Amino acid sequence: MSGSPTPRLIFGGDYNPEQWDASLWPQDVRLMGEAGITTVTVGVFAWAALQPQPGRYDFAWLDTALDLLHAGGIRACLATATASPPAWLVQAHPDMLPVAPDGRRLGPGSRQHYCPSHPAYRTAARALTQQIAHRYGQHPAVELWHVNNEYGCHVQQCYCEVSAAAFRQWTQERYGDLESLNRAWTTTFWGQHLSDWEQIQPPRTAPTTLNPALVLDYRRFSSDALLECFLAEAAILREVSPGIPVTTNFVGLVEALDQHTWARHQDVVSLDSYPDPLDAEAAARQALTFDLTRSLGGGKPWLLMEQAPSAVNWRPVNAPKPEGVMRLWSHQALARGADGVMFFQFRQSIGGAEKWHSALVPHAGTSSRAWQDTVRLGADLGRLAEVAGSTLTADIALVLDWNNWWALGLDARPSSEIDLPERLLDLYRPLWEANLAVDVVGPGTDLSPYRMVIAPHLYLIDEGHVTELHRYVEDGGHLVMTYFSGLVDPHDRVRPGAYPGAFRDLLGLQVEEFWPLSSGAEVALEGQDGRVGTAGVWSEEITSRGAKTLVTFAEGPLAGKPAVLRHTHGTGTVTYLGCSPDPQTLRPLLAEAAQTAGVHPALTDVPEGVEVTARTDQQGQVLFLLNHNDHAVPVPVPASRVVLGDEPDAGILTLAAHDVAVLRPVATR
Ligand code: GAL
Repeated sequence: MSGSPTPRLIFGGDYNPEQWDASLWPQDVRLMGEAGITTVTVGVFAWAALQPQPGRYDFAWLDTALDLLHAGGIRACLATATASPPAWLVQAHPDMLPVAPDGRRLGPGSRQHYCPSHPAYRTAARALTQQIAHRYGQHPAVELWHVNNEYGCHVQQCYCEVSAAAFRQWTQERYGDLESLNRAWTTTFWGQHLSDWEQIQPPRTAPTTLNPALVLDYRRFSSDALLECFLAEAAILREVSPGIPVTTNFVGLVEALDQHTWARHQDVVSLDSYPDPLDAEAAARQALTFDLTRSLGGGKPWLLMEQAPSAVNWRPVNAPKPEGVMRLWSHQALARGADGVMFFQFRQSIGGAEKWHSALVPHAGTSSRAWQDTVRLGADLGRLAEVAGSTLTADIALVLDWNNWWALGLDARPSSEIDLPERLLDLYRPLWEANLAVDVVGPGTDLSPYRMVIAPHLYLIDEGHVTELHRYVEDGGHLVMTYFSGLVDPHDRVRPGAYPGAFRDLLGLQVEEFWPLSSGAEVALEGQDGRVGTAGVWSEEITSRGAKTLVTFAEGPLAGKPAVLRHTHGTGTVTYLGCSPDPQTLRPLLAEAAQTAGVHPALTDVPEGVEVTARTDQQGQVLFLLNHNDHAVPVPVPASRVVLGDEPDAGILTLAAHDVAVLRPVATR
């Protein structure tokens, strides 16, 4: 980040001085120093404190807080404070409150209670940002700008009249004339022809299935409407304080924002990550999100802006992180390319909605294990300063397109079980377990550097992306594609001819009919090599047109018919999955595809449950070893300089339960 003279990793969290008596602030800054905290996020929900009345600003408290932080050597990730509009603004403009699809207006009293298209909100947010930027743009404590907070996290879409008008404008810009829109939306169906722009309405609750192209465009519009809010604030910050990077915190795999589009406007990509400690898949899920975040920034170091030190308070049951897991999961972010680890929040609240959410300084204060964990992690990050700026290169690309995700979520399709994050995880998990590095890329990414590309459920795809995937395989790439791909254009209109329209030739097959499976149902599979397994979610009737069958369905209406096939196209190959195979079936299929493609893990002979990644810089490789097991394991490691952790003994590093090591392999003869 900006202005840091020596390389260092960021460590810190949200700090809300306005919620505490000022007499406590010097102690807070002292504790931050004790824990090795470098940076705190200030002011995220401070709009009402900074602007108690229309036109009246009160910066005195923030002046004091930032000066104190600066004197204590702590930098600020300074928020624009626009995520929770003050009561007076809502009182003056009650119609700025967002509206749900059924017409219900949401109330104030929590946060994110604004319609992103409402001029009163936008004007007031810009004015506040101007004030903050001018007052603090040159403040020596300010390291990073934090615009708003988690756009679209609570309110993904607003359906009010102001949004309706903005949507009409958006459609006019996109389609130019009404007949183009009518064609794109297939309005001949169910007599939905539109003869006046004013007839366009948001996809509000209706008697039955809404026009899917309308729903899809409303998703696009809503992501763009929020993006306009971000860009308006970012433009002010960039003009007033050039050189201080600007970010907003993404929330990982959520539908609200087309993060590929948004990421282009971030100086550093940042993420909030809250895996559930009770979820057996938490570490894999989080690794996938971390890989997405790194990839959004084109591989540049990213920032874990928020995570919980232990329990959250917003699930029905909120388990704490078991001993060592806060540290382990923090290192997982670094292992996957982050240059900083931050938390929500520094000091645990005593009132308000998040008083039962863990914090770096818990209610018990410093006489707690939680505080010791904070101090220990700070020390770790201090020791790892040398890895700042190093990057991670992946040989595998996993394709994720928000437009496609939105389309997969539309009503009235063959199956509603194609839950994209879950299906991505199915494919990602075996790669993560095998310690194969993966980038999560969007359409338009240059695929040529990747040895293997996995394209799951690319149901909606535009022509450019179709061409990219064809070219990738023709030029010798190894593609893994799954069912329900290549079927519709960007307006959810079916591509002509047999399924899968865009990829029949590439895959060397034709899909005759879909046979989606009931929720939880399984169908038996049999490999050509005699291996047996099962598949869930989906099956389909496939006729090969040149592809070789690797696995067949072994029971039911499709018994004996192909389930997984491989096809050579140009100088490359495509493996096609016509079902969601169980992990036992998928693992060898992907391992074999990866081996053929020449993809190798960062380290071999690693015991199960140990995650290994490699970051590189000018000095060479940095290996991160993370033991997700709740027992110790021996790991054979190359001759190395130990940056963090115990020294190996005769080439074996013993990693305690949930422990972490960071090594720099040294050249040996
Ligand atoms: C995040 C949010 C924080 C805090 C946190 C609690 O979504 O940005 O302000 O509410 O959740 O887990």
